[in-house]
Amino acid sequence: MSAPVRVLVTGAAGQVGVDLVDVLNAVLPPGADAAFQPDGTPIGAEEFDVLGVTHHELDVTDRDATARAIRATRPDVIVHLAAYTRVDRAEVDADTCYDVNATGTETMSLAAHDIGAHLISISTDYVFDGRKGASYIEGDPTNPLNVYGSSKRAGELLCRAEDTIVRSSWVMGVRGKNVLHVIAERALSGATVRFVEDQVGTVTLASDMARALATMVRERPGGLWHVANSGTTSWFDVAQYAGTLLGRGDDFATPIMTSELEPAPLATRPARSDLSTQKWSERFEALPQWRDGVRRLVHDRTATGAP
Ligand SMILES: NC(=O)c1ccc[n+]([C@@H]2O[C@H](COP(=O)([O-])OP(=O)(O)OC[C@H]3O[C@@H](n4cnc5c(N)ncnc54)[C@H](OP(=O)(O)O)[C@@H]3O)[C@@H](O)[C@H]2O)c1
Repeated sequence: MSAPVRVLVTGAAGQVGVDLVDVLNAVLPPGADAAFQPDGTPIGAEEFDVLGVTHHELDVTDRDATARAIRATRPDVIVHLAAYTRVDRAEVDADTCYDVNATGTETMSLAAHDIGAHLISISTDYVFDGRKGASYIEGDPTNPLNVYGSSKRAGELLCRAEDTIVRSSWVMGVRGKNVLHVIAERALSGATVRFVEDQVGTVTLASDMARALATMVRERPGGLWHVANSGTTSWFDVAQYAGTLLGRGDDFATPIMTSELEPAPLATRPARSDLSTQKWSERFEALPQWRDGVRRLVHDRTATGAP
């Protein structure tokens, strides 16, 4: 039997990180589809030797500490999930956001190169301005509208050509903070919600993303890849569908326009930034439909006793 592949996961306490560490350890994360592995081969119990590092354990803006940690652990593959993800706060905290998302990613790429490891780094649909009027493919021109998107694009450009960059969007996991928990709490408490219908994109279940990343760890393809659940939707559609799953009627969610949000968000978001996953689907099994993912998330968050 061959030796396990050593994988270092940064941002391991984040919503994708906790699911990815589980998946690589052949543990089923909450919300996961047990039958789904996009390359068709289930994860073996001893296939990976996984080291997940949290922000507390490794600050990726500390270049020396990062280089030391990578040399000490000598992973075969690094999945770089650590990121500054507070999109609105980034507008007033741009230096920190760039330090983490741009310089931190460059640091990971250099450290990976130093020991001959393959880097898989995660980026976002917010590198696009949303004005294309159709799903974005990997080669489309970027034009971020906010600091977070600009910092992630800078991080992409600081990677080396052989690195793998996975762009994802609207990520939500059973564990971790995301809008679906807010929607579910309001649905269960009898409250109503207002959600924008003029922001259109692609939902990504953290556990499905983790499955896709495990496939990337196996394949190490290099280059840019878009990964998201199948189907395009709006935040209003997500809220309405989740409400239906929790027994609420048509009066639960009201559609509004972004211009009606009060207070207005600090960061401008693209109006239509859905990711085309055609490149992915030509090589691997497509991720499940977004409604299937939302259904699993809502079901499993209820099963875990989340508020
Ligand atoms: N969430 C989305 O909708 C979305 C969409 C597209 C792409 N992405 C990308 O997908 C990846 C994973 O996202 P996620 O949703 O799992 O994010 P998340 O839940 O916010 O997790 C990010 C993790 O990075 C850690 N971190 C922040 N600064 C760090 C630093 N300087 N050094 C080390 N760790 C640091 C955070 O720790 P602390 O919380 O302790 O600071 C957090 O645990 C990120 O690259 C993100 O940009 C996310």
